[in-house]
Amino acid sequence: MTGHGVIRRYRDFLPVTEDTCIISLNEGGTPLIDARQIVTEMGADFNLLIKHEGLNPTGSFKDRGMTLAVTKAVERGAQFLVCASTGNTSASAAAYAAASGLTCLVLLPEGKIASGKMAQALIHGAQTIEVRGNFDEALNIVRELGKRDDIEVVNSINPYRIEGQKTGAFEVCDTLGTSPDMHFLPVGNAGNITAYWKGYKEYFEVGQITKTPKMMGWQAEGAAPIVRGALVESPETVATAIRIGNPASWDRANEAVEQSDGVIGMVSDEEILDAHRLLARTAGIFVEPASAAGIAGLLKYHHESGIPNGSTVVVTVTGHGLKDPEIAVENSQAKPILVDADLESVLSSIGLE
Ligand code: F0G
Repeated sequence: MTGHGVIRRYRDFLPVTEDTCIISLNEGGTPLIDARQIVTEMGADFNLLIKHEGLNPTGSFKDRGMTLAVTKAVERGAQFLVCASTGNTSASAAAYAAASGLTCLVLLPEGKIASGKMAQALIHGAQTIEVRGNFDEALNIVRELGKRDDIEVVNSINPYRIEGQKTGAFEVCDTLGTSPDMHFLPVGNAGNITAYWKGYKEYFEVGQITKTPKMMGWQAEGAAPIVRGALVESPETVATAIRIGNPASWDRANEAVEQSDGVIGMVSDEEILDAHRLLARTAGIFVEPASAAGIAGLLKYHHESGIPNGSTVVVTVTGHGLKDPEIAVENSQAKPILVDADLESVLSSIGLE
């Protein structure tokens, strides 16, 4: 059966039955946008497609996994949904909790959540707790809370999150009719790179695709434990969504990169902000800074190693730009011009007569 939302669309690949009561906000079905302008700007010659996950119901890729995690929580009779979050998981959990009638508790690192994401947790009615600490510390508390039977942890340590998120890879292949050659994406807690790789492998196993892409994951320099091979005690980056020093799926991210012959690299905050602006100005795609890390990685990788001519490259941009409006205003490096309310003033302000 087909239908709306990733569970109905891909139910044969997911742990649900005909009787499962599906909690969905019609997530998934996000576009794969041709971004050849960026390739031209790079002076390169490959096919670039942007998977715009900011166009999910709560504005990020988290909804793909949240629909399944919440569906399964309801199925087993849990009463509370709990997560630690840099902002998007909590936004998604809060929305799906509201839709399901469960109570949601979110633990957020104090002062490090973009304003749009905070607004989402609050308006959907999640019990919102700011922790004097970082994401990794909050996740440790959540792991303890998860020992209670009435609580369902909906971070990506919940396997249903990964199961749901793997549908991103299915959609890419279904749209292209094949697998891309390379897949770039940002890495924080490393759930998404794990999920995409799982999706590609499953599609390969059932013969839906005949090759799999190189997985190309990108961390922020100040929060790059996987790249450095060591835990980062106090992660820092402008891309607050990926401000994580001890990723839960660390090993599986390494596995994805090794098995796919890919790369895990890091980009500076300056490179992230340049990519954030480039994507908005050149391709018309507005994302939050963490999402731009994949594009920054693409530019860096092409500069250092070269992307073969004619390749098909997909970049997942993970969250919508409106999540973090303050950064966008600052990074636009622009200001509105204030004029008197008459035609001459408007014309003269832009140098016309
Ligand atoms: N991009 C965005 C916009 C994110 O919110 C996240 C993670 C990532 C990339 C990294 O994905 O963790 O699967 O490697 N956000 C989590 C959160 C940690 O709490 O919202 P990942």
